[in-house]
Amino acid sequence: MKITVVGAGAVGASCAEYIAIKDFASEVVLIDIKEGFAEGKAMDLMQTASLNGFDTKITGVTNDYSKTADSDVAVITSGLPRKPGMTREELISTNAGIVKSVAENLIKHSPNVILIVVSNPMDTMTYLAHKATGLPKNRIIGMGGALDSARFKYRLAEALECPASDVDGMVIGGHSDTGMIPLTRLATRNSVSVSEFLSQDKLDYVKEETKVGGATLTKLLGTSAWYAPGAAVSAMVQAIGCDSKKMFPCSTLLEGEYGMSDISIGVPVIIGRNGIERVVEIELDDAEKAKMTESAEAVRKMNNVLSDMNLI
Ligand code: 2OP
Repeated sequence: MKITVVGAGAVGASCAEYIAIKDFASEVVLIDIKEGFAEGKAMDLMQTASLNGFDTKITGVTNDYSKTADSDVAVITSGLPRKPGMTREELISTNAGIVKSVAENLIKHSPNVILIVVSNPMDTMTYLAHKATGLPKNRIIGMGGALDSARFKYRLAEALECPASDVDGMVIGGHSDTGMIPLTRLATRNSVSVSEFLSQDKLDYVKEETKVGGATLTKLLGTSAWYAPGAAVSAMVQAIGCDSKKMFPCSTLLEGEYGMSDISIGVPVIIGRNGIERVVEIELDDAEKAKMTESAEAVRKMNNVLSDMNLI
């Protein structure tokens, strides 16, 4: 299995590292526009191979998409990360043009590729990838919900004072500080509803901390996070590579599911060899439906900016 990771920055390099350590792929090509940067990151990562025990071959290349040819999966992390105090949406003017050109270059050399979009504002960048490439909807996946759900489980485990492995929970909706919907109603600790253990106030706190999980880290780090984003993407890539049929909340183009069309937003999907095998329509309560509608409105507003930028 050949995987391309576009952008050798912190997220892209972490993603490449986790994919290599999981050792399910034959090759990872790391590509960046900065001369020598991807080559350096790839060489540094390959020097961990004997220590971390993986056989995956990681190569780096500067801006030569011919080296990405015939990739099975390509992860788009390129563009600017946000700075403290910024929203993901503020990155659209810089990142949209980059994501469009990257997506076009990728499919030129890998017509059968499955794209995973990470660049922000991610739901709108995923929508842009659809418009720019015309790939079938199962082959464009936005990564946001997998990361947000990991942060949700972190906050739940913290509140429950238990290992994160005891917790299950999912975040749907837009990948934004205000649009995320952590589904506390469905979250469990070893199959027991978390509401058996936590007060509503505590659950509300967990919800709010989850929604700003990215911003909290950006404030601490001075830039966007990279370990959990990289880990979330690598889990999705592995589900494709191993045809796992795992369920993740991902940004996907809706065509009537959840009563929505012509929008890419976070909903539960099954991921396997063909990318998105199917969308899973779960029953939402009235409050969750209202939040989803609100979240979708905000995503559509950002999608309209793409028209203003003459990109779609
Ligand atoms: C985050 O939330 C980068 O959007 C990503 O950290």
